[in-house]
Amino acid sequence: MALLEIKNVNKTFTNDDGSTLVANKDISITVNAGETYAIVGESGSGKSTLANLIAMINPVDSGEILMEGTDITTLKGEAKRQMRRNIQMVFQDPGDAFSPRMKVKDIICEPLLNFKVIAKSQAKEKAIELLAQVGLDADFADKYPHSMSGGQRQRVGIARSLALNPKLIILDEATSALDVCVQQQVIELLNQIQAEKQITLLFICHDIGLVRHFAHRVCVMQNAQVVEVLPAKDLVSGQVTPYTQSLMDAVFSVKHAPA
Ligand SMILES: Nc1ncnc2c1ncn2[C@@H]1O[C@H](COP(=O)(O)OP(=O)(O)O)[C@@H](O)[C@H]1O
Ligand SMILES: [Mg+2]
Repeated sequence: MALLEIKNVNKTFTNDDGSTLVANKDISITVNAGETYAIVGESGSGKSTLANLIAMINPVDSGEILMEGTDITTLKGEAKRQMRRNIQMVFQDPGDAFSPRMKVKDIICEPLLNFKVIAKSQAKEKAIELLAQVGLDADFADKYPHSMSGGQRQRVGIARSLALNPKLIILDEATSALDVCVQQQVIELLNQIQAEKQITLLFICHDIGLVRHFAHRVCVMQNAQVVEVLPAKDLVSGQVTPYTQSLMDAVFSVKHAPA
């Protein structure tokens, strides 16, 4: 069943000098409920632009984005605010995304307090519960993000994204800044969370080699457009379109290049 239907979405940016840049051109994709859906493509292909449209951070120029049949591009006021509960985002560098003055418990519980789901007095207890879901001890609740490793910070970002029980979590290059080994641990965590909660994950990443091992389907973007969408198991060398093949070859040459 479709959770998210993106229909003919377009987004053009106007630069300071008046020139324009088409970042998303006639994008149409469908993401199923409970699916791990990856969007891959080289830097500048329009992945983050699309993520920000789905997360209602930016408005579309034209097209529809349906969440369970509701066009979120037309929502306003309280209806828009309530829809935001369903769509959470995890960004690349959790160090930049979090205020350095906020403790982990406040970072994690901020969405819950904003939506008045819990009272301030319940924040620590709730934070500890969410920390456990991402494999972190209770003592992290009173820490500051700068005293933690990149992998731990990203777990906090995931805990925060889980707080409101969203239907969709968008992860935009969420593991790209992490070491390969830590990256693998975070992906295992995401797999586990998805198996338990059936949350739909939109995993955006420039590394096709990473997503092919855990996404259900992969959408390949190039120059603001969708090139193809295919099951991850069909990402077999020699059996994909030339652009997808070039992405796969690039991963291979980086990881296996002679020292
Ligand atoms: N706010 C913006 N203003 C102007 N151009 C932008 C803006 N955001 C993104 N772009 C441009 O849109 C294109 C797609 O960017 P982006 O969606 O960030 O790509 P990706 O995430 O795939 O690397 C790039 O050429 C980028 O420079
Ligand atoms: Mg990006």
